[in-house]
Amino acid sequence: MSPFQLTRTLPEDATGAALRTDVLRGLTRTPKELPPKWFYDARGSELFEEITRLPEYYPTRAEREILVARAAQIAAATDARTLVELGSGSSEKTRYLLDALDGLHSYVPVDVSESALTGAARSLLAERPDLHVHALIADFTRVLALPETPGPRLVAFLGGTIGNLLPAERAAFLKSVRALLAPGDALLVGTDLVKDERVLVAAYDDAAGVTAEFNKNVLAVMNRELGADFPADRFEHVAVWNAREEWIEMRLRAREAVSVKIRELDLVVPFEAGEEIRTEVSAKFRQEGVRSELADAGMKLVEWWTDAEGRFALSLSTAV
Ligand code: SAH
Ligand code: AVI
Repeated sequence: MSPFQLTRTLPEDATGAALRTDVLRGLTRTPKELPPKWFYDARGSELFEEITRLPEYYPTRAEREILVARAAQIAAATDARTLVELGSGSSEKTRYLLDALDGLHSYVPVDVSESALTGAARSLLAERPDLHVHALIADFTRVLALPETPGPRLVAFLGGTIGNLLPAERAAFLKSVRALLAPGDALLVGTDLVKDERVLVAAYDDAAGVTAEFNKNVLAVMNRELGADFPADRFEHVAVWNAREEWIEMRLRAREAVSVKIRELDLVVPFEAGEEIRTEVSAKFRQEGVRSELADAGMKLVEWWTDAEGRFALSLSTAV
Protein backbone atom coordinates (compact mmCIF):
# COMPACT_ATOMS: atom_id res chain seq x y z
CA MET A 1 0.00 0.00 0.00
CA SER A 2 1.25 3.48 -0.85
CA PRO A 3 2.15 5.45 2.30
CA PHE A 4 -0.17 8.27 1.13
CA GLN A 5 -3.83 7.97 0.26
CA LEU A 6 -6.22 10.86 -0.26
CA THR A 7 -9.94 10.12 -0.08
CA ARG A 8 -12.67 12.57 -0.95
CA THR A 9 -15.58 11.44 1.19
CA LEU A 10 -18.04 13.78 -0.48
CA PRO A 11 -19.12 13.65 -4.14
CA GLU A 12 -17.17 16.07 -6.42
CA ASP A 13 -19.97 18.65 -6.46
CA ALA A 14 -20.97 18.34 -2.80
CA THR A 15 -18.72 21.25 -1.81
CA GLY A 16 -20.25 23.50 -4.47
CA ALA A 17 -23.78 22.48 -3.53
CA ALA A 18 -23.09 23.01 0.18
CA LEU A 19 -21.58 26.46 -0.51
CA ARG A 20 -24.65 27.44 -2.57
CA THR A 21 -27.01 26.25 0.19
CA ASP A 22 -25.06 28.01 2.96
CA VAL A 23 -24.77 31.29 1.04
CA LEU A 24 -28.43 31.31 0.01
CA ARG A 25 -29.55 30.57 3.55
CA GLY A 26 -27.04 32.80 5.28
CA LEU A 27 -27.35 35.91 3.14
CA THR A 28 -31.15 35.95 2.86
CA ARG A 29 -31.67 35.88 6.64
CA THR A 30 -31.42 38.70 9.19
CA PRO A 31 -28.82 39.12 10.57
CA LYS A 32 -26.69 37.73 7.76
CA GLU A 33 -24.20 34.96 8.57
CA LEU A 34 -21.91 32.45 6.89
CA PRO A 35 -20.26 29.29 8.28
CA PRO A 36 -16.51 29.74 8.84
CA LYS A 37 -15.50 26.63 6.89
CA TRP A 38 -15.70 28.69 3.65
CA PHE A 39 -12.62 30.73 4.61
CA TYR A 40 -10.37 27.81 3.82
CA ASP A 41 -9.61 27.68 0.11
CA ALA A 42 -5.86 27.49 -0.68
CA ARG A 43 -5.41 31.23 -0.01
CA GLY A 44 -7.47 31.08 3.20
CA SER A 45 -5.39 28.16 4.49
CA GLU A 46 -2.21 30.15 3.75
CA LEU A 47 -3.62 33.21 5.53
CA PHE A 48 -4.51 31.10 8.56
CA GLU A 49 -0.89 29.90 8.73
CA GLU A 50 0.21 33.54 8.61
CA ILE A 51 -2.19 34.32 11.48
CA THR A 52 -0.57 31.61 13.61
CA ARG A 53 2.73 33.52 13.39
CA LEU A 54 1.30 36.94 14.38
CA PRO A 55 2.47 38.43 17.69
CA GLU A 56 -1.16 39.00 18.78
CA TYR A 57 -2.39 35.46 17.94
CA TYR A 58 -1.30 33.53 21.04
CA PRO A 59 -3.43 30.29 20.72
CA THR A 60 -1.03 28.43 18.41
CA ARG A 61 2.01 29.21 20.56
CA ALA A 62 0.15 28.38 23.78
CA GLU A 63 -1.09 25.04 22.42
CA ARG A 64 2.37 24.20 21.12
CA GLU A 65 3.79 24.88 24.61
CA ILE A 66 1.30 22.37 26.07
CA LEU A 67 2.03 19.78 23.40
CA VAL A 68 5.78 20.07 23.95
CA ALA A 69 5.27 19.56 27.70
CA ARG A 70 2.61 16.82 27.49
CA ALA A 71 3.14 14.80 24.31
CA ALA A 72 4.94 12.00 26.17
CA GLN A 73 2.14 11.81 28.74
CA ILE A 74 -0.49 11.76 25.98
CA ALA A 75 1.40 8.98 24.22
CA ALA A 76 1.72 6.94 27.43
CA ALA A 77 -1.95 7.40 28.30
CA THR A 78 -3.31 6.49 24.88
CA ASP A 79 -0.76 4.14 23.28
CA ALA A 80 -2.41 5.14 20.02
CA ARG A 81 -1.65 3.23 16.81
CA THR A 82 -3.89 5.52 14.75
CA LEU A 83 -4.00 9.28 15.13
CA VAL A 84 -7.09 10.87 13.55
CA GLU A 85 -6.91 14.66 13.37
CA LEU A 86 -9.96 16.78 12.62
CA GLY A 87 -9.35 20.15 10.93
CA SER A 88 -5.68 19.22 10.63
CA GLY A 89 -4.61 22.16 8.42
CA SER A 90 -0.82 22.22 8.09
CA SER A 91 -0.42 19.44 10.75
CA GLU A 92 2.44 21.54 12.09
CA LYS A 93 1.78 21.04 15.85
CA THR A 94 0.79 17.42 15.21
CA ARG A 95 4.47 16.60 14.83
CA TYR A 96 4.88 16.60 18.62
CA LEU A 97 2.28 13.84 18.88
CA LEU A 98 3.66 11.90 15.92
CA ASP A 99 7.12 11.99 17.47
CA ALA A 100 5.89 10.85 20.88
CA LEU A 101 3.60 8.03 19.71
CA ASP A 102 6.15 5.21 19.38
CA GLY A 103 3.82 2.52 18.06
CA LEU A 104 1.96 4.76 15.63
CA HIS A 105 0.88 3.04 12.39
CA SER A 106 -1.46 5.50 10.68
CA TYR A 107 -2.16 9.20 10.63
CA VAL A 108 -5.60 10.20 9.33
CA PRO A 109 -5.80 13.98 8.81
CA VAL A 110 -9.33 15.23 8.03
CA ASP A 111 -9.90 18.65 6.48
CA VAL A 112 -12.09 20.49 3.96
CA SER A 113 -8.95 22.06 2.49
CA GLU A 114 -7.35 19.76 -0.09
CA SER A 115 -4.34 22.07 -0.46
CA ALA A 116 -3.70 21.95 3.31
CA LEU A 117 -3.95 18.13 3.34
CA THR A 118 -1.62 17.55 0.40
CA GLY A 119 0.90 20.14 1.61
CA ALA A 120 0.96 18.64 5.11
CA ALA A 121 1.24 15.06 3.85
CA ARG A 122 4.11 15.97 1.52
CA SER A 123 6.24 17.38 4.29
CA LEU A 124 5.29 14.73 6.86
CA LEU A 125 6.15 11.87 4.52
CA ALA A 126 9.47 13.46 3.61
CA GLU A 127 10.37 13.27 7.31
CA ARG A 128 8.62 9.97 8.16
CA PRO A 129 8.60 7.66 5.13
CA ASP A 130 7.24 4.73 7.23
CA LEU A 131 4.11 6.50 8.37
CA HIS A 132 0.82 5.60 6.63
CA VAL A 133 -1.00 8.84 5.89
CA HIS A 134 -4.61 8.42 4.87
CA ALA A 135 -5.98 11.92 4.35
CA LEU A 136 -9.71 12.56 4.16
CA ILE A 137 -11.21 15.56 2.40
CA ALA A 138 -14.31 15.76 4.55
CA ASP A 139 -16.53 18.02 6.59
CA PHE A 140 -16.03 17.03 10.23
CA THR A 141 -19.53 18.24 11.13
CA ARG A 142 -20.92 15.37 9.04
CA VAL A 143 -20.78 11.67 9.77
CA LEU A 144 -17.20 10.53 9.16
CA ALA A 145 -16.32 7.17 7.64
CA LEU A 146 -12.81 6.52 8.92
CA PRO A 147 -10.45 4.07 7.18
CA GLU A 148 -9.79 0.66 8.71
CA THR A 149 -6.60 1.20 10.66
CA PRO A 150 -5.23 -0.42 13.81
CA GLY A 151 -6.41 0.75 17.26
CA PRO A 152 -6.23 2.21 19.80
CA ARG A 153 -7.28 5.43 18.13
CA LEU A 154 -6.55 8.93 19.34
CA VAL A 155 -8.86 11.56 17.82
CA ALA A 156 -7.26 15.03 18.04
CA PHE A 157 -9.04 18.31 17.44
CA LEU A 158 -6.45 21.02 17.93
CA GLY A 159 -6.19 24.78 17.57
CA GLY A 160 -9.42 25.65 19.34
CA THR A 161 -11.39 24.95 16.16
CA ILE A 162 -14.15 23.42 18.30
CA GLY A 163 -14.90 27.03 19.30
CA ASN A 164 -15.82 27.83 15.71
CA LEU A 165 -18.93 25.65 16.08
CA LEU A 166 -22.10 27.12 17.58
CA PRO A 167 -23.26 25.47 20.84
CA ALA A 168 -25.89 23.23 19.18
CA GLU A 169 -23.42 22.26 16.41
CA ARG A 170 -20.83 21.52 19.09
CA ALA A 171 -23.17 19.21 20.97
CA ALA A 172 -24.03 17.29 17.78
CA PHE A 173 -20.37 17.20 16.77
CA LEU A 174 -19.22 15.81 20.14
CA LYS A 175 -21.86 13.07 19.94
CA SER A 176 -20.63 12.08 16.49
CA VAL A 177 -17.03 12.04 17.75
CA ARG A 178 -18.12 9.88 20.68
CA ALA A 179 -19.54 7.41 18.15
CA LEU A 180 -16.06 7.07 16.62
CA LEU A 181 -14.51 5.96 19.93
CA ALA A 182 -14.15 2.28 20.80
CA PRO A 183 -13.13 1.21 24.31
CA GLY A 184 -9.49 2.24 24.80
CA ASP A 185 -9.71 5.15 22.32
CA ALA A 186 -9.34 8.78 23.41
CA LEU A 187 -10.15 12.33 22.36
CA LEU A 188 -7.68 15.23 22.62
CA VAL A 189 -9.26 18.68 22.27
CA GLY A 190 -7.67 22.12 22.27
CA THR A 191 -9.79 24.93 23.68
CA ASP A 192 -8.96 28.60 23.94
CA LEU A 193 -9.86 29.99 27.37
CA VAL A 194 -11.83 33.06 28.52
CA LYS A 195 -9.45 35.94 29.25
CA ASP A 196 -9.04 39.71 29.13
CA GLU A 197 -11.16 41.18 26.34
CA ARG A 198 -8.29 43.34 25.03
CA VAL A 199 -6.05 40.31 24.52
CA LEU A 200 -8.86 38.47 22.75
CA VAL A 201 -9.87 41.31 20.45
CA ALA A 202 -6.24 42.01 19.48
CA ALA A 203 -5.80 38.34 18.53
CA TYR A 204 -8.67 38.71 16.04
CA ASP A 205 -7.88 42.24 14.84
CA ASP A 206 -4.12 42.29 14.40
CA ALA A 207 -2.16 45.40 13.55
CA ALA A 208 -0.81 43.98 10.27
CA GLY A 209 -4.33 43.32 8.96
CA VAL A 210 -3.78 39.61 8.23
CA THR A 211 -6.98 38.56 10.05
CA ALA A 212 -8.89 41.22 8.10
CA GLU A 213 -7.59 39.68 4.88
CA PHE A 214 -8.50 36.18 6.11
CA ASN A 215 -12.02 37.37 6.94
CA LYS A 216 -12.44 39.06 3.55
CA ASN A 217 -11.20 35.92 1.80
CA VAL A 218 -14.71 34.49 2.11
CA LEU A 219 -15.84 37.27 -0.27
CA ALA A 220 -13.21 36.17 -2.79
CA VAL A 221 -14.41 32.56 -2.42
CA MET A 222 -18.01 33.59 -3.22
CA ASN A 223 -16.87 35.78 -6.12
CA ARG A 224 -14.88 32.94 -7.66
CA GLU A 225 -17.12 29.97 -6.90
CA LEU A 226 -20.54 31.58 -7.28
CA GLY A 227 -19.86 34.39 -9.78
CA ALA A 228 -20.62 37.01 -7.12
CA ASP A 229 -19.40 40.62 -7.29
CA PHE A 230 -18.63 41.47 -3.66
CA PRO A 231 -16.42 44.61 -3.65
CA ALA A 232 -13.98 43.68 -0.86
CA ASP A 233 -12.91 47.29 -0.35
CA ARG A 234 -16.46 48.28 0.58
CA PHE A 235 -16.49 45.87 3.53
CA GLU A 236 -14.52 46.26 6.73
CA HIS A 237 -13.28 43.62 9.15
CA VAL A 238 -14.86 43.71 12.62
CA ALA A 239 -13.90 41.61 15.67
CA VAL A 240 -15.99 41.97 18.84
CA TRP A 241 -16.15 40.14 22.17
CA ASN A 242 -19.62 38.90 22.99
CA ALA A 243 -19.42 38.74 26.80
CA ARG A 244 -22.77 36.98 27.23
CA GLU A 245 -21.87 34.10 24.91
CA GLU A 246 -18.16 34.27 25.74
CA TRP A 247 -17.12 34.21 22.12
CA ILE A 248 -15.34 36.47 19.63
CA GLU A 249 -17.44 37.30 16.59
CA MET A 250 -15.83 38.17 13.30
CA ARG A 251 -18.01 40.15 10.98
CA LEU A 252 -17.77 41.92 7.64
CA ARG A 253 -19.46 45.32 7.74
CA ALA A 254 -20.64 47.20 4.63
CA ARG A 255 -19.01 50.65 4.72
CA GLU A 256 -21.88 52.03 2.61
CA ALA A 257 -25.08 50.72 1.03
CA VAL A 258 -24.19 48.16 -1.62
CA SER A 259 -26.07 45.65 -3.74
CA VAL A 260 -24.26 42.40 -4.53
CA LYS A 261 -25.16 40.07 -7.39
CA ILE A 262 -24.58 36.35 -6.96
CA ARG A 263 -24.89 34.97 -10.49
CA GLU A 264 -24.95 31.25 -9.68
CA LEU A 265 -27.80 31.77 -7.22
CA ASP A 266 -29.64 34.24 -9.42
CA LEU A 267 -29.73 36.42 -6.33
CA VAL A 268 -29.23 40.08 -5.49
CA VAL A 269 -28.25 40.73 -1.87
CA PRO A 270 -28.81 44.30 -0.63
CA PHE A 271 -26.68 45.65 2.23
CA GLU A 272 -27.56 48.80 4.13
CA ALA A 273 -24.69 51.02 5.22
CA GLY A 274 -23.23 49.43 8.36
CA GLU A 275 -24.98 46.08 7.82
CA GLU A 276 -22.86 43.07 8.82
CA ILE A 277 -22.35 39.42 7.93
CA ARG A 278 -21.25 37.31 10.90
CA THR A 279 -18.54 35.14 9.39
CA GLU A 280 -17.20 33.31 12.47
CA VAL A 281 -17.67 32.80 16.15
CA SER A 282 -14.66 31.69 18.18
CA ALA A 283 -15.89 30.52 21.56
CA LYS A 284 -13.62 30.73 24.60
CA PHE A 285 -14.03 28.11 27.29
CA ARG A 286 -13.79 27.34 31.02
CA GLN A 287 -12.89 23.93 32.40
CA GLU A 288 -16.33 23.24 33.86
CA GLY A 289 -18.03 24.01 30.55
CA VAL A 290 -15.74 21.68 28.65
CA ARG A 291 -16.22 18.93 31.23
CA SER A 292 -19.98 19.23 31.08
CA GLU A 293 -20.19 19.37 27.25
CA LEU A 294 -18.04 16.23 27.08
CA ALA A 295 -20.20 14.51 29.70
CA ASP A 296 -23.37 15.40 27.76
CA ALA A 297 -21.86 13.62 24.76
CA GLY A 298 -20.93 10.49 26.77
CA MET A 299 -17.27 11.28 27.46
CA LYS A 300 -15.25 11.78 30.62
CA LEU A 301 -12.55 14.41 30.95
CA VAL A 302 -9.48 12.66 32.34
CA GLU A 303 -6.73 15.27 31.91
CA TRP A 304 -6.74 19.08 31.67
CA TRP A 305 -3.48 20.81 30.83
CA THR A 306 -2.89 24.53 30.27
CA ASP A 307 0.08 26.61 29.19
CA ALA A 308 1.98 28.45 31.94
CA GLU A 309 -0.06 31.62 31.45
CA GLY A 310 -3.38 29.73 31.54
CA ARG A 311 -4.45 31.01 28.11
CA PHE A 312 -5.27 27.73 26.37
CA ALA A 313 -6.13 24.18 27.45
CA LEU A 314 -5.71 20.70 26.04
CA SER A 315 -8.03 18.08 27.43
CA LEU A 316 -7.90 14.34 27.14
CA SER A 317 -11.10 12.35 27.46
CA THR A 318 -12.39 8.85 27.00
CA ALA A 319 -15.76 7.32 26.23
CA VAL A 320 -17.92 6.36 29.23
N1 SAH B 1 -5.48 22.28 13.47
C1 SAH B 1 -4.70 23.33 12.84
C2 SAH B 1 -5.52 24.16 11.86
C3 SAH B 1 -6.61 24.99 12.48
S1 SAH B 1 -7.40 26.03 11.26
C4 SAH B 1 -4.08 24.19 13.91
O1 SAH B 1 -4.33 23.96 15.08
O2 SAH B 1 -3.32 25.10 13.58
C5 SAH B 1 -8.93 25.17 11.08
C6 SAH B 1 -8.79 24.03 10.09
O3 SAH B 1 -10.05 23.32 10.09
C7 SAH B 1 -8.54 24.49 8.65
O4 SAH B 1 -7.52 23.71 8.07
C8 SAH B 1 -9.88 24.29 7.95
O5 SAH B 1 -9.74 23.98 6.58
C9 SAH B 1 -10.48 23.13 8.75
N2 SAH B 1 -11.94 23.13 8.79
C10 SAH B 1 -12.76 24.16 9.13
N3 SAH B 1 -14.05 23.75 9.12
C11 SAH B 1 -14.02 22.44 8.75
C12 SAH B 1 -15.03 21.45 8.59
N4 SAH B 1 -16.32 21.75 8.78
N5 SAH B 1 -14.65 20.19 8.24
C13 SAH B 1 -13.33 19.89 8.04
N6 SAH B 1 -12.34 20.78 8.18
C14 SAH B 1 -12.67 22.04 8.55
C1 AVI C 1 -9.26 27.84 13.37
N1 AVI C 1 -9.75 28.66 14.47
C2 AVI C 1 -9.55 28.03 15.76
C3 AVI C 1 -9.28 30.06 14.42
C4 AVI C 1 -9.82 30.82 15.66
O1 AVI C 1 -8.99 31.38 16.37
O2 AVI C 1 -11.02 30.79 15.91
C5 AVI C 1 -9.69 30.75 13.15
C6 AVI C 1 -9.33 32.21 13.17
N2 AVI C 1 -10.17 33.18 12.94
C7 AVI C 1 -9.53 34.32 13.04
N3 AVI C 1 -8.28 34.09 13.36
C8 AVI C 1 -8.11 32.76 13.44
